Amino acid sequence: MTENQMRLEIEKLKAQKNIKIFAHNYQNYEVQQVADYVGDSFYLSKLAAEVDCDQIIFCGVKFMAETAKTLSPDKKVILTVEDALCPMANMISAQDIIDFKKEHEDFCVVAYVNTTTQVKAAADVCVTSSVAVDVIDNIDAENILFVPDMNLGNYISEQIEGKNIISWNGYCNVHDRVRKEEVIQKRKEHEGYPVLVHPECRKEVLDEADFVGSTSEIIEYATNSDEKGFIIGTETGVLHTLRNMNPDKEFELLSPSLICFNMKKTTLSDVYSAAAGKGGIEIEIEEGLRKNALKSLENMIRLSGR
Ligand code: 13P
Ligand code: SF4
Repeated sequence: MTENQMRLEIEKLKAQKNIKIFAHNYQNYEVQQVADYVGDSFYLSKLAAEVDCDQIIFCGVKFMAETAKTLSPDKKVILTVEDALCPMANMISAQDIIDFKKEHEDFCVVAYVNTTTQVKAAADVCVTSSVAVDVIDNIDAENILFVPDMNLGNYISEQIEGKNIISWNGYCNVHDRVRKEEVIQKRKEHEGYPVLVHPECRKEVLDEADFVGSTSEIIEYATNSDEKGFIIGTETGVLHTLRNMNPDKEFELLSPSLICFNMKKTTLSDVYSAAAGKGGIEIEIEEGLRKNALKSLENMIRLSGR
């Protein structure tokens, strides 16, 4: 089957089976093109609960499809590629949180959405990068343990006054590889371009940046700006939307290491197979576990005020 035939078949299957395709901003362009919705983790999570469809095909990594299923249990949720995993999500376990809480009863545990359903269930509140600061600022507790991303945790604690925020020692192996020297070098090569970075980058990189935000916030910032060129410090997939929405602007990737191989595992052919019922993996979550994880996600939506 050619790529064009595959695209046509996907459209037919979407209509026949009432499927909606969700794709994260980091997905391959061919996948983003057939998606009904492309966005950051918060946007896609909220949408999972709101969209009227029978089936969601999730093109992203496993925690994202699990989040969609947690928020919309009546829909069939398919992750396109079974081993598309976020390594950071496995840098903390539910048992780690249970053990921590035994020793620190006065702490509220906040889990980044890049975690397993078990971790969300053991935590008190969940956050995505786009709402983390607002949510944690609104939590009625002074002591916070943020898991698992130490870079995002440190960034949040610098933005909020009057709370004791400690971070777990996890990290994203894509964003954490970027170094301050790369920012300095890119600025020399592209004088005057603002540097926009994701908060999963190290502090030394965030300190050099002009703007820190989630994938969608970076897209929004560049789109609303009058500047003509930008240095982008997040995964290369965002460049598709940035260039489509801003054909007159230039976008330079901050570092060649900004490729998430797990996000790139999904191809057009995988989307077709999932839509045809011949591929991907259906997400199933035991009901008690789902309800506990749902509490953390609902707390996020409530405290974010969005
Ligand atoms: P966003 O919340 O910005 O979509 O980021 C998710 C992610 O995995 C970043 O690496
Ligand atoms: Fe996980 Fe990093 Fe890939 Fe995001 S970019 S999915 S945090 S490994």
